[in-house]
Amino acid sequence: MNIAVGGAADADPAFRDSVLAGLAAEQKCIASKWLYDEVGSRLFDVITVLPEYYPTRIEAGILRERVGDLAAVVPEGAALIELGSGSSAKTRILLDAVPQVTSYVPVDISAAYLHAAAQQLASDYPGVDVHPVVADFTRSFTVPPHLAGAPKLLFFPGSTIGNFAIGEAEALLRRMAAMPGVAAFVVGVDLKKDPGTLVRAYDDAAGVTAAFNLNLLGRLNRELGADFDLAAFGHEARWNVPFGRIEMHLVSRREQRVTVAGEAIRFRPGETIHTENSHKYDPEDFGRLALTAGWRVADMWVDDTRCFSVQVLRPALPS
Ligand code: TRP
Repeated sequence: MNIAVGGAADADPAFRDSVLAGLAAEQKCIASKWLYDEVGSRLFDVITVLPEYYPTRIEAGILRERVGDLAAVVPEGAALIELGSGSSAKTRILLDAVPQVTSYVPVDISAAYLHAAAQQLASDYPGVDVHPVVADFTRSFTVPPHLAGAPKLLFFPGSTIGNFAIGEAEALLRRMAAMPGVAAFVVGVDLKKDPGTLVRAYDDAAGVTAAFNLNLLGRLNRELGADFDLAAFGHEARWNVPFGRIEMHLVSRREQRVTVAGEAIRFRPGETIHTENSHKYDPEDFGRLALTAGWRVADMWVDDTRCFSVQVLRPALPS
């Protein structure tokens, strides 16, 4: 048995190398996937119920209203594969409406959290075989071999696709298009809207998103033997107009020097670590991107206020 005692020695080398490379860059950055340790995953669940954070609520409403339409395109015995499944909250809406699904493959980077969510779901849906896969789906993951030949319904909610740069999003879509037997790919995509609403969604009054962002520094302290003073950094959400994205940063409140995995990192006052992008799309732009990556938009579901979209993609070339 491997007992984690914290500190740099037993740290995941992929985590350490990724963090050190980001902190050595001109614009310091840390890849957003590292936000989701167990504490981060729990804080993120709180974000999803905040009054300012509209995406989860609106997307769930769209799904509840429209997901029955999928019943017509999903074959019997289908496997539902969800990317970045987190607490699997929206999965239930799909499972309730699409009885053809007989197995569920949640894919998430947060192992402890994934297994707890999968266990809960398995006990609530005894007719569905649940096979959690711990993986960084931004790289690649393997579907359990006995499901390789099953028809598949891919599910990527929460506008997580927006957390990728456009080129990376295209590459991910392309990789998914190469998976055999996909009946449909259901992707939640947040839409462009007034910057005030966007910024508030990522900088809530209760400070939960700030705590979520700052937990990243806490994680570096716990797992990489870093010595960040969390009070010396602030949370900032910015709307980047040319890139059409919300950016999250951790802002150094003063000149300081921090040690991370044995390396000294200097911060100027006001210097930031860029921790997240959340790209917002126009519906037509997303359709074009999907098309380039081997999909066609079979349907697009939006709420009355055109705030959020759920895109139903089907392979451009049927497999
Ligand atoms: N996919 C979510 C989004 O872009 C992730 C998210 C929501 C998020 N709020 C966040 C990520 C705050 C980091 C910080 O909307």
